[in-house]
Amino acid sequence: MGELRNLVSVSDMTRQWWDGLYLRCCDIIADPGNYADSCRGKLLASLFYEPSTRTNFSFQAAMMRLGGNVFGFSDPMCSSVSKGETLVDTVRITATYSDAIVIRSSQEGAPTAAALYSETPIINAGDGGHFHPTQTLTDLATIAQKRGGIGDFSIGICGDLKYGRTVHSLIVALALFPDVRFYLISPRELRIPEYVRQVMQTNELQYSETENLAQCIPDLDILYMTRVQRERFGNAAEYKRLRGVYVLTRKLLERARGDMLIMHPLPRYGEITPEVDSDPRAIYFEQARYGMYIRMALLHELTHLPRRPPPPVTGVVSALKCRNPACVTQTELYLPPIISARDTERCGYCDKNFLSF
Ligand code: NCD
Repeated sequence: MGELRNLVSVSDMTRQWWDGLYLRCCDIIADPGNYADSCRGKLLASLFYEPSTRTNFSFQAAMMRLGGNVFGFSDPMCSSVSKGETLVDTVRITATYSDAIVIRSSQEGAPTAAALYSETPIINAGDGGHFHPTQTLTDLATIAQKRGGIGDFSIGICGDLKYGRTVHSLIVALALFPDVRFYLISPRELRIPEYVRQVMQTNELQYSETENLAQCIPDLDILYMTRVQRERFGNAAEYKRLRGVYVLTRKLLERARGDMLIMHPLPRYGEITPEVDSDPRAIYFEQARYGMYIRMALLHELTHLPRRPPPPVTGVVSALKCRNPACVTQTELYLPPIISARDTERCGYCDKNFLSF
């Protein structure tokens, strides 16, 4: 496996790295007992600044199944964060006690900031409406398990494509695989953000945008449903208007192929009715289980890397400051204003264009 020290952005992934990780994941699924001691004596620090069920629990379960241990918080107000401690001080201290740190934050780019200061690997468990790389690993593992490989399919991604971090990272990651055709299904107000669109265009991905799920469902090999992200809306009335636009029912599924896979990162909030759960095409609970196995593979790889001082910060910009209100630089004022490795006009933390706010 090529070295990858931190998993903060999906753009950190290469095809070769994924292939190695997935092989490991398959080996773990085939014989989990073989890995029962692979992280014996290792500690995972778990910093959850935002609510979570699956991601938090699956990381804990994964580490414990590898024989390791976990400490951390799921309510930052129980830690020195409540006394005003900065993100980076919290990370520096945590890094001295642990072999890897998993971090979830509402601030876009928080894991990137953490990686600039940490001696141990940083794993992004979701940063605001930006990316959610380990959900994407879960999604890729699920697709690979269910279809025997990744590529040559039509995927409909439906719901909140604007704020859905699982959507952004899944699209960017699927650029690594051949012949994936995207149907982006959302209301106009919730279309993909510009930085994701740019990745699609640069990689010449095949995509069409539509508001009509019923019309395109017969063409899909995979339907990836998502929740409208209430917590990211500035305007409660707009959220109310847009939630519930798409509801997957048994009736609607009559139009879909018999072997279409129905995925969802979960939690759901009305966008898939419970009657769908018994349909053999519904694989979202199985998907959550693959999330634990792929996280076992990830922890197996990252927690054995040697502790190392973070390399000096490069790519600093002097004049431009990110104005995205959700960017980590808005509150963690000491952070150097870095630029994106992909595009000099973008913030290196949140990927937003410096001039777009
Ligand atoms: C997702 C998230 O947190 O972004 N949940 C998850 O980690 N499985 C999806 C969501 O909250 O809608």
